[in-house]
Amino acid sequence: MELTEIQHEILSWKAKNDEVFSTIWRSPSNIALLKYWGKSEGQLPINPSISFSLSEAHTTTKITAYPDAINPGISGINNNKQHPFLQKIAPFWLTVVKEIPLFKDYRIDIHTQNTFPHSAGIASSASGFSALTLAVVDLAKEISGKQLPHDVFIKYASWLSRLGSGSACRSVYGGFSLWGVSKDWKNSSDLYAIDINEHIHPDFHHLQDAILLVSAKEKRLSSSSGHDLMKEHPYAAGRVIQAKSHLKLFQKALAEGDLELLAQLTENEALSLHALIMSSRNGDILLEPASLELIQRIRNFRLKGLPIFFTIDAGPNIHLIYPESEKEKVKAFILSELNDICPENKLIFDYAGTGPQKMNEID
Ligand code: PMV
Repeated sequence: MELTEIQHEILSWKAKNDEVFSTIWRSPSNIALLKYWGKSEGQLPINPSISFSLSEAHTTTKITAYPDAINPGISGINNNKQHPFLQKIAPFWLTVVKEIPLFKDYRIDIHTQNTFPHSAGIASSASGFSALTLAVVDLAKEISGKQLPHDVFIKYASWLSRLGSGSACRSVYGGFSLWGVSKDWKNSSDLYAIDINEHIHPDFHHLQDAILLVSAKEKRLSSSSGHDLMKEHPYAAGRVIQAKSHLKLFQKALAEGDLELLAQLTENEALSLHALIMSSRNGDILLEPASLELIQRIRNFRLKGLPIFFTIDAGPNIHLIYPESEKEKVKAFILSELNDICPENKLIFDYAGTGPQKMNEID
């Protein structure tokens, strides 16, 4: 089913009665290997990106919809009418009501929790917006009594969550996903992400991600300001060319199980992202001394034969990526060689997960 057909159908949904409905969804964060950085009007990416969804780092969100034509809209988050996330959600909610008009006569109560620190360079907005959107679309089904085939439901949720936070559109899938149109990938789109697991070598299905928290503080550069900086970035055109050529190589590395190529591309993407951030107007340095030390130690250890590599989002934390087959050895290396330089002394052992899930209770 085409996206426009789904959108058209959902626009016509009406509440079947005036009951109160609620639903709970858990959705993962994801880590991009090929980075989305820079967007055009309508939150469309200037280049394609590839990520895998995590397992341990996730958000669980419960939303309850009360029929209330007098006081519609979001009444609060976690019983807090001033919750900081409200500012981010308010414009998104206007989009939701425009696309799913049945919500215009509902008051919405949100309860949400994360398994990891907010805004610390781990994509909390990806898990946050995808969990919220999946819950919203599921609730719209309940309120209207309508059904959607699972793949249609997920495609629509990917599209809608993208309007909240770009990278959220990749979190509606387990394993690997691609967001951004490319002539080399059938069905790829700038509007929503697609599941690309059938093109991934089995060796990579259970890729591990040890998140080394250099700082759990609020990040200095929000991703929306970062994307904005790309609009007048002197290297923007070059970045798009680079990302498109990386996409081809990622396609090959992921399909063939070529870990060396995957490592080289992934690290280059992370360092390119930070090079773009540093060379933006008001150039910012998000990496901390500990981030650089971790990178050096990871690279030195790779020379000794351990197949490990890193990636970094728009923050100082280092994601150490490795195959499941090396799990025990890498864990020992992290605990003996890396843990002491993480100032927070915190790490999250995460791994490619199976994707979002409808829950019975908030965990
Ligand atoms: O979805 P946003 O606006 O939070 O942007 C995410 C940007 C990066 O995390 C740096 C890269 C990515 O592709 O996830």
